[in-house]
Amino acid sequence: MKILVIDDEKNIGEVIKLLFEKENYEVETAQTGREGIEKIKNDFFDVIISDIKLPDTSGMEILKMAKEIHPEIPIIMITAYASTSTAIEAMKLGAEDYITKPFDIEELRIIVRRAYEKKKLEIENKKLQKLIEEKYSFENIIGKSKQMREIFLLIDKIAPIDSTVLITGESGTGKDLIAKAIHFRSLRKEGPFVAINCASIPENLLESELFGYKRGAFTGAVTSKAGLFQEANKGTLFLDEIGELPQGLQAKLLRVIQDKKIRPLGGTQEREVDVRIIAATNHDLEKMVKDGNFREDLFYRLNVINIDIPPLRKRKEDIPILVNHFIEKMNKKLGKNIKGASSELLEVFFIYDWPGNVRELENIVERLMILEEEEILTIKHLPNKYKNTKEIKDVPPPSEFEDFDLNKYLDEIAKKTISLSLEKTKGNKKEAAKLLGISYRSFRYYYNKLFK
Ligand SMILES: Nc1ncnc2c1ncn2[C@@H]1O[C@H](COP(=O)(O)OP(=O)(O)OP(=O)(O)O)[C@@H](O)[C@H]1O
Ligand SMILES: [Mg+2]
Repeated sequence: MKILVIDDEKNIGEVIKLLFEKENYEVETAQTGREGIEKIKNDFFDVIISDIKLPDTSGMEILKMAKEIHPEIPIIMITAYASTSTAIEAMKLGAEDYITKPFDIEELRIIVRRAYEKKKLEIENKKLQKLIEEKYSFENIIGKSKQMREIFLLIDKIAPIDSTVLITGESGTGKDLIAKAIHFRSLRKEGPFVAINCASIPENLLESELFGYKRGAFTGAVTSKAGLFQEANKGTLFLDEIGELPQGLQAKLLRVIQDKKIRPLGGTQEREVDVRIIAATNHDLEKMVKDGNFREDLFYRLNVINIDIPPLRKRKEDIPILVNHFIEKMNKKLGKNIKGASSELLEVFFIYDWPGNVRELENIVERLMILEEEEILTIKHLPNKYKNTKEIKDVPPPSEFEDFDLNKYLDEIAKKTISLSLEKTKGNKKEAAKLLGISYRSFRYYYNKLFK
């Protein structure tokens, strides 16, 4: 990371330089606005820290110029205690954050690191978003896992032919999405896509719903009504939750598929229909056949082509791009500007098992987005059931150290933990100590030992 500090007080520049160089960051200093602008023009910085009051120009001018040259660089303003209103003004002009003099260097370190992380995440997410748009999306279905890419290929292959398709997969894996994708990639795409959920309609109504009825077919049938098969003529009929289709209707459906003809209730004449059928279920239909709950002949008729969508826990590499996709979607829906998900949150998501699959992921992202006050989704508002699965690790494995040294390693862990606790408590050491379960005295001891 490369930092530029613009401050006429030489001391401040030196202190900041010392602080960050200790962490192997590069630090450049400038004592006038002009010098600062020159450096911004000729070099690239990850973070800029600038005093609001400078001898030749104001920090506001620097801010405006820097935003013009490199709009993406986060800028942190230093301001005297009395002039926080100017600082707020600066934030409106696009400053990332501000810090008031005299400041605690640990606080500055946290602010700078947060700004840098946020910027990094933003850039990464932009890249990811582009990849999703270019490579990993197929009719709004997101997936980069091998299994999903194979499904995309399969859809491409089978969409143009008229065979019946059976889509299987747990609840929330995207069966509806895939049914629509098949229709809109088929030669029938100009025709209707009609969907019916076999589980949501009572058995006695389902038949007339599917096949229609003639006037007088039953009490209350004062007019004739076309069924969904007729509505879907020249298009696709999506029979969702086909496992719930009652036995009697299973036989009738089989006949329609074979003969391509329907007879409305109370009607005497058969009608030809040209419909492609896509069925979906989250039940194990084969087992239902074995148990005698689903007709074997119908099963084979439907299962000409099977698309089996794996549960999310078996393709976790899809999680980050799905999260990004849902963030983009919800930003529009909720009018928010969330930049991405923290790595901590993604880690928790990776460990979790997702019984509700993609639907559950979509719902939790929406919920977090509603509750999140910051621009990055964090685990702050995540319900406990997601967090309880495993400890969150934030420590590099020993193999990452060149010459391994246990004391150094333990110090690193302590340092990282303490930094995190300070980050969580916004720099409040007493609260941080409480968070870590140690006394304020011990906290100060560690803090002085490790950071000074
Ligand atoms: N691969 C994916 N990419 C983007 N969104 C997805 C994906 N899979 C599922 N979704 C979204 O998740 C939600 C649930 O998907 P869908 O309704 O298609 O699941 P389903 O398998 O039909 O579930 P059920 O068995 O409960 O009917 C939808 O909002 C859908 O847009
Ligand atoms: Mg569904």
